[in-house]
Amino acid sequence: MIQRVINRYWMACGVRAFIRLGVPDALAGGGLSLRHLAEQCDAHPDFLARLLRALAPHALVAADATTNQWWLPPVGETLITGRRGALEAVIERWESPAYEHDLRVLPELLTSAVTTRPGLLLDLLSPPAANSASATEMSDPQRSIADLLTAFGDLAALRVAAEHRWADKLRDGALSAADLAERTGVHPDPVREIADRLRTLDVLTSPVDDHYELTAAGQTLRYDRPDSMRPALQMCGHPVWWGAMWHLDTVVGTGQPYLAPGTSAYDVIGGDPVAQSVFDRFMTCRSAPIAEALRIWAATAAIEPGSVIVDVGGGRGTLLAALLEELPGCRGVLLERSVVLPAARTYLADHQMSGRCEVVGGDFFAQVPSGDVHLLGSVLHNWSDKDAVAILNGIRGATTGTGRLVIVEYVLPNGPEPHSGYGMDLRGMGLFAGGRERTAAEFTTLLTEAGFTLLAACSLPHGLTRMIAVPTAA
Ligand SMILES: C[S@@+](CC[C@H](N)C(=O)[O-])C[C@H]1O[C@@H](n2cnc3c(N)ncnc32)[C@H](O)[C@@H]1O
Repeated sequence: MIQRVINRYWMACGVRAFIRLGVPDALAGGGLSLRHLAEQCDAHPDFLARLLRALAPHALVAADATTNQWWLPPVGETLITGRRGALEAVIERWESPAYEHDLRVLPELLTSAVTTRPGLLLDLLSPPAANSASATEMSDPQRSIADLLTAFGDLAALRVAAEHRWADKLRDGALSAADLAERTGVHPDPVREIADRLRTLDVLTSPVDDHYELTAAGQTLRYDRPDSMRPALQMCGHPVWWGAMWHLDTVVGTGQPYLAPGTSAYDVIGGDPVAQSVFDRFMTCRSAPIAEALRIWAATAAIEPGSVIVDVGGGRGTLLAALLEELPGCRGVLLERSVVLPAARTYLADHQMSGRCEVVGGDFFAQVPSGDVHLLGSVLHNWSDKDAVAILNGIRGATTGTGRLVIVEYVLPNGPEPHSGYGMDLRGMGLFAGGRERTAAEFTTLLTEAGFTLLAACSLPHGLTRMIAVPTAA
């Protein structure tokens, strides 16, 4: 549920960029080729194509395969200037820097010494057209966009709960709004308003009047859950992660990430120990269900005792530890940036893997440790095709002839069907120069170029895919 809200928020940011770039107005007169549309919107063609591809499953825009043109279906038409009706109010609201500021820092605003401004939450969290007299007159296409745009308020409410650790306070049972407020240092009124919003998301429930309790989805906000969603929500509020989505129109316009030139998102968090720790924890929690799925694969994968498994860019080693637990006769090597190594050592020690796993600080573009199985979990999508092939080449040179490469990534569909990878692709445009989510054909091209053959692909939790590749026979 919480990941679904984050995905909807990414799409809502996509809608905002779509409008701010002027795509609906540019297509108001009829279909246009990508090149003409990019010219009219002053946008980078590749980034614009990725934005359109992400919004197509929501029927905001469609591609005509015969004419090779993009055109507006009825949902997209409602965003043309002059036809927005009740949606105009929310679009205008975006233009206010104060609105963006309040949305971004809402968790801090609620605990600041300043009394919470009257109407602040109504303004921030209310559905887009709630204050509009014409809300009831919305057409179905307008309503479908309004529904998507509620994700801004939904995410803000979830970020408050995550930052204020509501789930840890509610773990032993229901609390009244007043009790929850007292334990978090916030006035009860905003607590009640936000808790009610979280009830609509099925994160909280009210067993008795004015009391709140965690649902199964709410439990995943707890700090101590291996699959906790708290760090994912915290990452959404990181200034660069936030900026990459809020300024997506600028990113698509320039074709450049929301970063200082020459820096990477990893440089940004690498210089900020708190952010690095939240990111590493985010990856650990996100990878927990993937690790379980890999463990099941490993049980029948005929990996010989004595094999060495190398986790390339392995984070704290979540995937590696699960595989080593399943394969007691194997050893592991974790390759990571040196800033991640202390957390990785702790994680591996907590999982009794220190004695079976070597932790290596280094750069996967420079050298990859040799082994029999190489793991690449959510690494390739951060890099351009050229860089991805360089990483794969390094692995090809470090694997045995009978070695295997296990890749975990989103694999995008070929047609305009909903997929979690599209939201991640929008975010990646803002964070990783050249990074992108890819289709199966695109992965096959990269693997072939680096001397691998894709053998199998299988679905994993979160809409991810596990791919197995082997060195191509000479
Ligand atoms: C998205 S995370 C994936 C972590 C882990 N594989 C997982 O699936 O949980 C990508 C990882 O690549 C690491 N990384 C980035 N650049 C690297 C480099 N040049 N050499 C080694 N690791 C790198 C980052 O520190 C980060 O932990």
